Amino acid sequence: MKIKNICCIGAGYVGGPTMSVIAQKCPEINVTVVDLNEKRIAAWNDEDVENIPIYEPGLSGVVAEARGRNLFFSTDVDEAIDKADMIFISVNTPTKTYGIGKGMAADLKWIELCARQIARVATSDKIVVEKSTLPVRTAAALSDILHNTGNGVKYHILSNPEFLAEGTAVEDLHAPDRVLIGGDYTTEEGSKALQALVDVYAHWVPKENILTTNVWSSELSKLTANAFLAQRVSSINSLSELCEASGADVAEVARAIGKDSRIGPKFLQSSVGFGGSCFQKDILNLVYIAKSFGLNEVADYWEQVIIMNDHQKRRFAANIVKTLYNTVSGKKIAMLGWAFKKDTNDTRESAAIYVADYLLNERAEVVVYDPKVTSAQIYADLDYLGSRSEEENRNLVTVVNSPYEAIEDAHATAILTEWDEFKKLDWDKVFESMLKPAFLFDGRRLLERNEMEEKGFKFYSIGN
Ligand code: NAD
Ligand code: UDX
Repeated sequence: MKIKNICCIGAGYVGGPTMSVIAQKCPEINVTVVDLNEKRIAAWNDEDVENIPIYEPGLSGVVAEARGRNLFFSTDVDEAIDKADMIFISVNTPTKTYGIGKGMAADLKWIELCARQIARVATSDKIVVEKSTLPVRTAAALSDILHNTGNGVKYHILSNPEFLAEGTAVEDLHAPDRVLIGGDYTTEEGSKALQALVDVYAHWVPKENILTTNVWSSELSKLTANAFLAQRVSSINSLSELCEASGADVAEVARAIGKDSRIGPKFLQSSVGFGGSCFQKDILNLVYIAKSFGLNEVADYWEQVIIMNDHQKRRFAANIVKTLYNTVSGKKIAMLGWAFKKDTNDTRESAAIYVADYLLNERAEVVVYDPKVTSAQIYADLDYLGSRSEEENRNLVTVVNSPYEAIEDAHATAILTEWDEFKKLDWDKVFESMLKPAFLFDGRRLLERNEMEEKGFKFYSIGN
């Protein structure tokens, strides 16, 4: 089975970059990315390729190469579904905010809507690929919806979770550690569908890095991978607090244990807490699934990763208040960074949001600088928490266009995102323009203690 037309429903952080790279690497396949969000599609189609809606290093170049040739962005979902041999579902699956499983389960409303739309529109056989991160056994529900329309169209459902990390999406897509494809390899037709997707990736991914499994293993592996990664961050963060209490240095501990090849050096960077749209959502979902199978010990085990992360964000903020003589009321706190990590404009679940909220509850005046996040996004993130009125958020929080503007006359500066440019700031100038004592809180282990203390800062660094 040779794939000629691909449709991807969802032009977000996953659908956009993933499909752009497939189109780049498979020039003979037409790839159409569709979305209900007209503004987002218009931005993907913007004449100036630097205006695409997602900031990712290298992405605009990939889009420039393929767009208009075999990569298209459109709001006509029905047409793209009808034309496609293979349909990727890459819509959002956030934590439910209502009803059963509120605050834990993944909200599959958008997934189901896609399945119903495919079932309504399709007139020829389709391979449907789960690209979104989904609870184990979702493919069974999709199959049920798709196969009960009575129009005789055949569907094969594959699971193909995405492992890209934001900020390195293009790099990760070009050279993935592995591509995972779950399908029904016990039947001839199922195997053919699996092979069709293997062939797409085989355009650029070495065959030994393309893993095939059954559908349930593939669905569950995605949640498991994120849980293991987040667990490493919470593990090292839990020890950062013990380091601070005992005189050990968490970076030294991380280096010492990371040299053990069984542990490995990656994902041991202590921080103000992990953020991003995936880790928390996927672990909560894993906890919910374990509970729904009656596996309470399994659920409690993984929930601890989230509990530790919430603690880490809170204790960073609480330490600012404590250090500033137990009050930040009316004090200006400069926050450097709002994105959940460097090299992305994504702010979902960013630790910065929760730190700012804590400080605002203590009546601080917060001034934010981030090189890629808009002020509209920063206010929207704070408004979403519902901690205070929109007007109060705008009165108490100022968003500025330069780090030096943020720190002027500040009582304290806090680094929330590890943007490279913060390392290169003129820290003497920063010291000069802050109020004294000049308190500096490094939530990312970006700066050297000795250097900062020599300049005169009262310096706090996570785990040191
Ligand atoms: P996103 O919110 O950026 O994008 C999803 C898009 O789907 C939105 O633009 C939305 O308008 C669109 N959409 C929703 N329902 C639709 C419908 N019925 N028809 C057409 N368009 C529709 O989300 P994302 O970050 O791209 O994540 C998508 C999925 O991928 C999630 O399941 C997520 O867990 C998973 N994932 C995300 C990442 C990541 O780094 N962001 C990494 C791996 C996996
Ligand atoms: C994650 C997974 O890495 C990726 O495989 C999956 O597809 C989506 O979820 P992402 O959330 O984009 O990717 O970024 P990631 O690099 O994993 O960072 C997540 C959060 O953990 C960030 O806030 C980051 O700053 C933090 N982190 C990461 C640490 O605090 N310390 C580390 O050592 C690593």
